[in-house]
Amino acid sequence: MKTHSVMGYWRKWLIFTVFISAIVFGGSPSWAAPEGSPWNGDYFTNTKLVDQDGKTVHFYDDLIKGKIVVINFIFTHCGDSCPLETASLLRVQRLLAERMGKDIFFYSISIDPDHDTPKALKNYADNFGIGAGWRFLTGSKADTTLLRKKLGLFRDSVEASKLSDHNTSIMIGNESTGQWMKRSPFDEPKVLAWQLGYALSNTKAVHNTVQTGYAAADKLPKISKGADLFRFRCAACHSLGNEDGLGPGLQGITERRDKAWLARWIKTPDKLLAEKDPIAVSLYKRYNHILMPNLRLNDSDVEALINYMEEMGKSGQQVLSLSGKKS
Ligand code: HEC
Repeated sequence: MKTHSVMGYWRKWLIFTVFISAIVFGGSPSWAAPEGSPWNGDYFTNTKLVDQDGKTVHFYDDLIKGKIVVINFIFTHCGDSCPLETASLLRVQRLLAERMGKDIFFYSISIDPDHDTPKALKNYADNFGIGAGWRFLTGSKADTTLLRKKLGLFRDSVEASKLSDHNTSIMIGNESTGQWMKRSPFDEPKVLAWQLGYALSNTKAVHNTVQTGYAAADKLPKISKGADLFRFRCAACHSLGNEDGLGPGLQGITERRDKAWLARWIKTPDKLLAEKDPIAVSLYKRYNHILMPNLRLNDSDVEALINYMEEMGKSGQQVLSLSGKKS
């Protein structure tokens, strides 16, 4: 099926574009998809949409270019999943606070344009008490269907007949780094907020500290295996600063903990808890009984992660916290 092959392509390119964007574009603030990213203005359409205030906007130029975005598809008279979807994204919006409308934007696009006039969308947004940086949009059926296909959020086989069978996944992405991820709106809001405010924004920390362009590429920090693992497996819950996420801030962790303990914990946290390891038990209690997941890492992954955390500690590099301030 067409949408499936697009998503397969999407996934395959994800790691490549993250790599390319960090190496090639790490040094310069870039306000559009990096060269080499397949998801630029040629991929996304500049579809005309109208927002809840009656303002006409263009999808690529006005809504996603150079921005960190959340995009979902809803209809306002939907009785089951959409209100829940909106409610859970509302929690994410609140967590992102002042980042909303600054560098992070939410877009809920109607899949029932006949019914969802701008006025209907405005009522819906008002009822939920939607704040800054979140727009509700409508456009022609053909255009919004094409957008859903481009975003990999259209299920050909089931969608035609019933609106309520629509795909409730959301797409989150950073257009300027070419990173895109499909998520469920029912994910833990803190995890989503961290992915938007921290993991997807991560390259900004690099932007500030490195030189520009191909000439400087040798001197740029390489995206090491450890950095890559940390970003995709750990950053949803941990900062490398002292600010807590779902788990503790990991600043200075390689000095605070015995290396062998650290390696065992990262590899098999569930085992240490089962053995009633005193450090594990006290952390578990302190962090709201959220279990640090066993991510099935092998020894070389664990070693790379510990080296990376140690390196970050030594160089005193700073990472962006959720609020966008350095921690
Ligand atoms: C789903 C959230 C989550 C993810 C993902 C996660 N952790 Fe954790 N981590 C926690 C929580 C919560 C704790 C506190 C202990 C507990 O509650 O189990 C913790 C504790 C830790 C600790 C101990 C901190 C201390 O003060 O001793 C380290 C080290 C750690 N995590 C590293 C990692 C690394 C490395 C990764 C990625 C490979 C990772 N974590 C992925 C949630 C997470």
